[in-house]
Amino acid sequence: MAIAQSTAPLNPNGTPMPAKDAELVKNGSSSLKAKIDTSLLTETLATSLKEVPKPEDLVFGQVMTDHMLILSYAPESGWSAPEIKPYGPLSLDPSSSCFQYCPNVFEGMKAYIGPDGKPRLFRPELNMVRMEKSAERVALPPFDTTALLKLIKRLVAVDARWIPRSKGCSLYIRPTIIGTRAALGVAASNHALLYVIMSPTGPYFRTPSGISLLGVNEHVRSWPGGTGGYKLGLNYAPCFHPQRLAAEKGYQQVLWLIGENVTEAGAMNFFVVVKRDDGDLDIVTPPLDGTILPGVTRASVLSLLSAHPTQTSLPNLSNKTRLYTHERPITMTELAAWSAAGRLLECFVVGTAVVVTPVSRIGWQDRDIVLPEHKAVMGPVTAALYERLVDIQEGRVEWQGWSATCV
Ligand code: COI
Repeated sequence: MAIAQSTAPLNPNGTPMPAKDAELVKNGSSSLKAKIDTSLLTETLATSLKEVPKPEDLVFGQVMTDHMLILSYAPESGWSAPEIKPYGPLSLDPSSSCFQYCPNVFEGMKAYIGPDGKPRLFRPELNMVRMEKSAERVALPPFDTTALLKLIKRLVAVDARWIPRSKGCSLYIRPTIIGTRAALGVAASNHALLYVIMSPTGPYFRTPSGISLLGVNEHVRSWPGGTGGYKLGLNYAPCFHPQRLAAEKGYQQVLWLIGENVTEAGAMNFFVVVKRDDGDLDIVTPPLDGTILPGVTRASVLSLLSAHPTQTSLPNLSNKTRLYTHERPITMTELAAWSAAGRLLECFVVGTAVVVTPVSRIGWQDRDIVLPEHKAVMGPVTAALYERLVDIQEGRVEWQGWSATCV
């Protein structure tokens, strides 16, 4: 007699999953459970509004706006009605998964004021897709990315007075999902809180001539098959101790290596500009092999470089200079050899928070690789990318619909 095999998904302890959770596992993010009903949004506005700091006083992430967006997830009912309400503390059970096993994901986005005086966002749909993938990687519930983006736009409209008007300043947006399952068993969190907070920001680093990096491989940020390619909170805390060691040696950020291979710098993607014999330029960044965060700024920089000079000219770069982009491994030996041969012209780091920031020197094996352009404010490629990107983000230059008004 044949014995019927159950195909129901199992909990980590081997027991069959409750039907609702099993449905979620089976259907993934297409499940009805991802549904966020934006028509149920409620708004409670703050009765007293905070003073908005002057752009010159802004320090990254220090001051939050007046309001936040919040919604919660429970397996029986899915996502709750979203709320925009005054910014304030959360109340959570101390056994919540987010405090114990860190199923926490976040995004970094920015809002700008365009020349028409209206708020705009830069390629926000890419952040939504990345956040969906990050949530899936730590088995947090799926969510409707279109609905979340609509709610974020509404939050930006509510707190629009917080968007700085000065060039290079913006309103940083931090969507976050945390696992709130209140139990200590080692399992995926079937409860979650999704919230979005915002903070006005100016330049991330206050060293315009570039940041210093220390090449480190005794500690790693990411590894093949690991989580470095996702935006998870748990990728960041293990970097703080090596970062402190680098600071004690006089370097601002860690250049994360795996063996000899460069991955990222601090929490940013890394690029080098190398001169060819004919004067054209190779611009190289490590490939998305799972150890590198697929940055929105990284993708945008690669795309702008590839478009020069046939579809657009990058500011102050000659149309005769060909820029060849490469996503391929970079080793420290190569960097040192290019530098010794006078071919390493510029290094820069990119990310939502830092936009495009030059590197002045890289410490490696008790020596410094010094970038020749570091005495200028920025090298020409770094400066061109910074200028063009900020012009697109702030709506002065239209490019492929990357920046759009959001209210
Ligand atoms: C960002 O650029 O948004 C980042 O995530 C970097 C850091 C502020 C965490």
